[in-house]
Amino acid sequence: MEKILNKFIEENKERLLSELFELLRIPSISADPNYKNDMFKAAEYIKNKLVNAGADNVEVIPTDGHPVVYGEKIIDPELPTVLVYGHYDVQPADPIELWNTPAFEPTIKDDIIYGRGTCDDKGQLYIHVKAFEFMMKNNALTCNVKFMLEGEEEIGSPNLEIFVGKNKEKLKADVILVSDTDMIANNIPSINVGLRGLTYVQVEVTGPNRDLHSGMYGGAVANPINILCKMVSSLTDENNHITIPGFYEKVLELTNEERAEMGLTPFSLEEYMKELNIEDVCGEKGYTTLERTNIRPCLDLNGIWGGYTGEGAKTIIPSKAYAKISMRLVPHQENAEIAELFQKHFESIAPKSVKVKVTPLHGGQPYVSPTNIIEYIAASKAMEKTFGKKPIPTRSGGSIPIMALFEKELGIKSILLGFGLETDAIHSPNEHFGVFNYLKGIETVPYFFKYYSELKK
Ligand code: BES
Ligand code: MN
Ligand code: MN
Repeated sequence: MEKILNKFIEENKERLLSELFELLRIPSISADPNYKNDMFKAAEYIKNKLVNAGADNVEVIPTDGHPVVYGEKIIDPELPTVLVYGHYDVQPADPIELWNTPAFEPTIKDDIIYGRGTCDDKGQLYIHVKAFEFMMKNNALTCNVKFMLEGEEEIGSPNLEIFVGKNKEKLKADVILVSDTDMIANNIPSINVGLRGLTYVQVEVTGPNRDLHSGMYGGAVANPINILCKMVSSLTDENNHITIPGFYEKVLELTNEERAEMGLTPFSLEEYMKELNIEDVCGEKGYTTLERTNIRPCLDLNGIWGGYTGEGAKTIIPSKAYAKISMRLVPHQENAEIAELFQKHFESIAPKSVKVKVTPLHGGQPYVSPTNIIEYIAASKAMEKTFGKKPIPTRSGGSIPIMALFEKELGIKSILLGFGLETDAIHSPNEHFGVFNYLKGIETVPYFFKYYSELKK
């Protein structure tokens, strides 16, 4: 396979890139209703490419939100089935003024593709479409494959749970293959075996029934922004420990051996800080930076607003203040439980002078997968083959809430075979993805299929 695979990539390089570029030009922003049509356009585009590559029963399936693209190739019902999951929706591009090139006009500079969705997740999703094309053209598909490509990952997959529940038979598979995470470095391949869970809430603090003159009332009536700031700053203590009662109760503490093993993961704090242009890191006392993002929960404000934010000065005591707060969870914390603990606590610390409202927005469970299963071993062998080095199992701080749900609903493990890098600026301006990473992904995936079907025999 090696020869024809390398030849395929070499000979088709321009087309592999230009097809991805066409997909990247469609602004499929799931969070913004103005882009509803583009969601369909992106779904249709992928559908056509799957059809052209030889997939059967390809459909753009509507949901109450954005559609799911489904397709399959069943070569023999007796053979194992790989279910490929990915998402074609992207985060909004703003702040757009910080992009050096237009977010939806992909641009290559120094062998790096810049644009929204290049890494998260269109570039990584399209790896699978093109690896499938290769396997179909060259008779190299050794097991069945199904595709489930959704358009709501970036907004918490509100309709995928329903879709999965309704289509258990259709989605029946032996393993889920996902490329939506990162590796340590291009010369240090790694495979993700852990993701954090998430609880995301919005809070609203209400003071007086209208904005007031801050001279006439200032000092006598609670200012909801002042109060909100005090409340959120009390959610962590001087050791950056979260103060919500019961928050850590179910947190799985790693053994000293496990922590020592994690400590072997290549990581340079100096480079990490330099890349972010910060003089110091900040996190929970007693844990390293990698531990803080991989095995410890955290609480962050994602946005805070209220009052007057226009030009110049307006003197008011605002009526309302808001914040969006995320909590990243680790095994065995439960999203619903944490949302409840947060709500109770937040209400309990509010002074009588304001009213608070807590609205959970979305969330999901953490996910961990073992390394001693053939699904992982197949992925490891595939990466070793194409990167020339055995990949290191790592965890990541990000979340793909649907992974734990798949395990619960479909009873199968997911393999997170990601090809991005931490520095790819996903969700940020100037998101990018290496041409190397894209092509390496297309090269690696057929080996996963090969080794997986061999090991599964
Ligand atoms: N692909 C990311 C998750 C990710 C990135 C995992 C890097 C590991 C390494 C995914 O698209 C994402 O952004 N997930 C969201 C959660 C979602 C519910 C909005 C996240 O982690 O914030
Ligand atoms: Mn993603
Ligand atoms: Mn994302």
